[in-house]
Amino acid sequence: MTQAAAPVITIDGPSGVGKGALCQRLASRLGWHLLDSGALYRLTALAALNRAIPLDDEAGLAVVAAGLDVQFVGGSDGLIGILLEGVETDATLRGESCGNAASRVAALPAVRAALLQRQRDFRRFPGLIADGRDMGTIVFPDAGLKLFLTASSEERARRRYKQLREKGLNANLKSLVEEIDARDERDARRTVAPLRPAADAKVLDTTQMNIEEVGDWALQLAFQRLAAPEGPLD
Ligand code: DC
Repeated sequence: MTQAAAPVITIDGPSGVGKGALCQRLASRLGWHLLDSGALYRLTALAALNRAIPLDDEAGLAVVAAGLDVQFVGGSDGLIGILLEGVETDATLRGESCGNAASRVAALPAVRAALLQRQRDFRRFPGLIADGRDMGTIVFPDAGLKLFLTASSEERARRRYKQLREKGLNANLKSLVEEIDARDERDARRTVAPLRPAADAKVLDTTQMNIEEVGDWALQLAFQRLAAPEGPLD
């Protein structure tokens, strides 16, 4: 059977909603592969900044995206590092300035087109958990289960703040709320692959929920889907 037949669960939603933590949980619980598509946009932005390519040079950025020399280094607990041109990048990659640059780069159709097949190539047995903004709508429209998470921007900024501080990175809550609002606006309004749930996605507002509750909701749907690949979901 070709890898294109491997099952996929897509998890989309705005920045800071907790997709990353949920995806890691699901991937390790199911023993599936993980695609962090945001990392590809962040890596494109970072590679462009390294080479002094302006963030509005669409053709130049598409060349960068198509030729990204990136290695995702895995360990028994999932992803342990990302190398860009052989150099460990994780801390820079996760910073807010890289996220904001990624959001600008991600609005360019030629960049999205250049990254499309690379994302689909992550599909492998026993299955793939795909984390992003357009996983259910564009990249894996045939996914067996599509989840879409939301939460208020204040709550997402609080979660991001906590996450950044835990990683020892500098953060300011007020500017995080402003940046998250600006990034949401850009991600939702762009003409190509805007942030929105697929028509057949299950949508969950996680503002009042913790990661365990969100994880239980997603796992229960995942098991239902695996037991009955074509059946209705609760
Ligand atoms: O999930 P993240 O914060 O790492 O994503 C960084 C940026 O990349 C985000 O502002 C939107 C963009 N992105 C996208 O447009 N499509 C995706 N599938 C993933 C991320």
